[in-house]
Amino acid sequence: MRGDGMEATDRMTVLVTGGAGYIGSHAVLALRDAGRPAVVIDNLVTGFRWAVPEDVPFVEGNVADMDLVGRIIAEHDIGAIMHFAGSVVVPESVVDPLKYYRNNTAASRALIEAAVAGGVRHFIFSSTAATYGIPEAIPVTEDAPQRPINPYGMSKLMTEAMLADVAAAHPLNYCALRYFNVAGADPQGRSGQSTAGATHLIKIAAEAACGKRGHVAIFGTDYATPDGTGVRDYIHVSDLAEAHLRALDTLMAEPTRSHRLNCGYGRGFSVREVLDAVDRLTNRTIERRLEPRRAGDPDALVADNRAAIATLGWTPRRDDLDTIVRDALAWERGLK
Ligand code: UD1
Repeated sequence: MRGDGMEATDRMTVLVTGGAGYIGSHAVLALRDAGRPAVVIDNLVTGFRWAVPEDVPFVEGNVADMDLVGRIIAEHDIGAIMHFAGSVVVPESVVDPLKYYRNNTAASRALIEAAVAGGVRHFIFSSTAATYGIPEAIPVTEDAPQRPINPYGMSKLMTEAMLADVAAAHPLNYCALRYFNVAGADPQGRSGQSTAGATHLIKIAAEAACGKRGHVAIFGTDYATPDGTGVRDYIHVSDLAEAHLRALDTLMAEPTRSHRLNCGYGRGFSVREVLDAVDRLTNRTIERRLEPRRAGDPDALVADNRAAIATLGWTPRRDDLDTIVRDALAWERGLK
């Protein structure tokens, strides 16, 4: 014990890749709020320098640059990595699969090699519900078959596979967090989804509510769901960031165990329900245009989150669609 109420391990410095991006920046804020040291590496292709607080060390660079990452690990005595950096647009992955195998799979391979060489003990990986493909049963448990239906999901699944093999061979444990639909923004207004040309429903609806788009398309009304539109499990980005801190503690507490855990609330909302919430909270009516199904969209995707809650001791605090939408709207209003 250090005598100041903090174990030495709490001071372990975390390298956050993609820390200037949407989810990564919220994780950096959560680490900083908890008084835990972090260093960010981000190539600023989709991230923003302003999203990282000035007092957090920042390196502009590529996670596939093993020399650079090796130097950061040595210089900052990095004990754990939270790996958010990557490409995330599913339709783009279908037309440009090699970009996804480069930015997600190959870059992760290099990063993991640098982590092993540098003696990093813990690795937290941003995986995705897209690794399940079209699930046979809802809610989806972690042992459901992983059969991605797009290169994005496959690029992430390949990284999960690498981590499993590496953890068996080297003194490193990992937690793959399989995100469902991440939305919302920091309740204190310090970060939010800022990428131009977003494809995510809540972001798009927030843009429409702020007059930045004329309408929202509803992709498919004939799904096998109660109102015919796609059902998803939306999770507040700050709850997800908190899950990463819990994952780090869990990995440190039992360094020989690794985990693969769903991150969602275990409850689904349809596209219409999401748009209804936006209308209700803004007292406006967004124009909805009914359009054909988008390729590769499953009817419903809802997490069984019991393992994450039990394993991580994670308590979701913003499990409420209106809260998610309200925070997304507040952020969108503040964006130029
Ligand atoms: C997808 C991935 C998810 C990944 C995320 C990252 C799958 C199954 N899921 O989420 O793992 O993390 O992308 O990019 O591949 N919708 C509309 N109109 C719109 C936009 C969306 O109706 O303008 C509908 C979609 O058809 C879907 C729902 O809204 O039913 C959510 O879509 P979106 O926000 O794009 O996320 P996913 O495709 O579910």
